[in-house]
Amino acid sequence: MVTVIHSSHELQNLNQDYKGKIGLVPTMGNLHQGHLNLLKASLEECSRSIVSIFVNPTQFGKGEDYNAYPRTLESDIKKIESLGEDVFIFAPAVNEIYGDSVETDFSAGEVGQMLEGNIRPGHFDGVLTIVHKLFEMASPNRAYFGKKDYQQWRLIEWHAREYFPNLAIVPVGIERETSGLAMSSRNNYLTESQKEEALELYRSLSQIEKILIVDKDLRSALEFIQSKLSDDDRFNYLSIRKQSDLTPPLDLSEPLVILGNLQVGSTRLLDNIEVAVE
Ligand code: PAJ
Repeated sequence: MVTVIHSSHELQNLNQDYKGKIGLVPTMGNLHQGHLNLLKASLEECSRSIVSIFVNPTQFGKGEDYNAYPRTLESDIKKIESLGEDVFIFAPAVNEIYGDSVETDFSAGEVGQMLEGNIRPGHFDGVLTIVHKLFEMASPNRAYFGKKDYQQWRLIEWHAREYFPNLAIVPVGIERETSGLAMSSRNNYLTESQKEEALELYRSLSQIEKILIVDKDLRSALEFIQSKLSDDDRFNYLSIRKQSDLTPPLDLSEPLVILGNLQVGSTRLLDNIEVAVE
């Protein structure tokens, strides 16, 4: 059975004295298979699962798509119902979360300013602010995040280590269309021909992965990136980083992640591939 809760007090009361394992899946709704995979992982590992659906204003910058972001609560509820499991959906209004002050409480620091943070100033401050509030309200034992938003997952993991030491942050792999395109609520903005165009991102990440794994050559991977960036101004960034701290690697000794963001029309798409060179 699916139970929809709109009030944060109700959510707090629900979980306060609950003795089982609580899993939280934070989302902004417009659910697709990627989101449902997070929920399935929670249902497997926890006795109570909560999906939050909240389009968080503080993580959107000026001129971004906060107003246009798809709000599809009724069909989201149906998708969750179709799993046939007991799930709580927390779908609060903005003032339920922020009261009168729609502001950020945390800074995501230096890592919060690179890559996505560089093209979306303040974005991760907003993300940390909302997940912190959700963690406080839902008191989860485990919280599930997709590796599709790699930098977000890492920043939340670090934040939770500091403020919620008993909470496990569980990463879930990227769900893709058969074309390779990473699933995203923002894919709904794309026309069919833009979806074709969007494949350039995964294709480029895969080419860089190949240079790293087959040629084991960091320098030529970096040269490939340089030429891509100078030939194709649709890339907002394309970068190889260390998985551990998201700084640029000096060699191939540590596990790496290739991260990219491609501008398709007015939509910014992100994706990444983890690479460990043996
Ligand atoms: P949203 O974009 O709705 O994504 C919710 C969760 O689903 C995130 O953890 C995201 O990484 C994961 N996800 C999205 N697409 C995925 C895919 N193709 N494969 C695997 N996981 C995927 O990310 C946010 O919302 C917000 O920033 C949030 C964390 C909810 C804070 O507002």
